[in-house]
Amino acid sequence: MSRIYLVGAGPGRADLLTVRAAKVLSRAGAVLYDRLVSSEVLELVPAAAELIYAGKEEGRQEETQARILIQLEECARRHEVVVRLKGGDPMVFGRGAEEWVWLARRGWDVEVVPGVSSAIAVPALAGIPATLRGVAGGFAVVTGNRKSGCCQQWQAYAAADTLIVLMGVENRAGIAACLIEAGRAAETPVAFVENGTTPRERVLVTSLGKVAHDEADVTSPAVMIVGEVVNLRSELMPYLACAIA
Ligand SMILES: C[S@@+](CC[C@H](N)C(=O)[O-])C[C@H]1O[C@@H](n2cnc3c(N)ncnc32)[C@H](O)[C@@H]1O
Repeated sequence: MSRIYLVGAGPGRADLLTVRAAKVLSRAGAVLYDRLVSSEVLELVPAAAELIYAGKEEGRQEETQARILIQLEECARRHEVVVRLKGGDPMVFGRGAEEWVWLARRGWDVEVVPGVSSAIAVPALAGIPATLRGVAGGFAVVTGNRKSGCCQQWQAYAAADTLIVLMGVENRAGIAACLIEAGRAAETPVAFVENGTTPRERVLVTSLGKVAHDEADVTSPAVMIVGEVVNLRSELMPYLACAIA
C-alpha cells in the first residue's frame, strides 16, 4: 500500500533537513511542495519523481488546498511513496494537520516527518535564541496573519518573554501597536529575519515603537522576534559567520 509522508523541509538550507526527511525524499515517486521549500532541498528529489508545485496563490487558497488533496490521492494511486513537502515543520501552521486528518479519514497511510521549524531555527542562526537564562524563561509562537483590529488576542501573547511571529510582515505595524497597547514597552527590541538560513538572509533590529510607526522596512518571508533576547545578536555577531559557513 502507498504511504503519504507529510515532510518538513526545514527553513531553507538542505543540510537542515532531518536524516529521515532526506531518506524519504530519496525514495519518493511524487513530491508536492510548497512555496517556501528551497531549491536546494528540491535538488534532492530523484530525477524520475513527479515534482508538483503546490504553493497557494493569494485569494485562491481554499481552491488550491482542495486541489492539493485530490492531487495527493491521485499520486498515491500511482506511487508507493508520496511526499507532501512543507517549509519548516509540517505541523507548524501551513495546514499540515488538516491534510493529515483529511487523508487519514479517507483511509490513507500517513507518516509525519517533523522538520526544523523556522520559528526557532531562523532566529537562532541569526544569533537570537528563543530562551536565555535570566532573560527569557519562555517563548510563544503565533501567526501574525489575522484580521486587523483584533487587539484583544494580543493581550496574552504580549506577556511572553519572547514572542515569535510568523506570517506577520504585512500586519507588523498593527501587531506592534497592539503589543504596546497590551502593555509591552515601546523600547522592547524587535528583530526581523528575512529569508533566514539562505544566502539572501537579511536581519533588521529595531524597536516595537518604530515598528508600530511603520518604520521597519521588511519583506516576506520573515520571522519577527520581540523581546530582550534580540540584544544577544550584537554580542554573537562576530561568531555567526563561522557558524553558518
Ligand atoms: C505558513 S508559515 C509556515 C511555517 C513552517 N511550517 C515552519 O515551521 O517554519 C510561513 C512563515 O514562516 C516563516 N518562514 C518560513 N521560512 C522562513 C525563512 N527561511 N526565513 C524567514 N521566515 C521564514 C515566515 O514568517 C513565513 O511567513
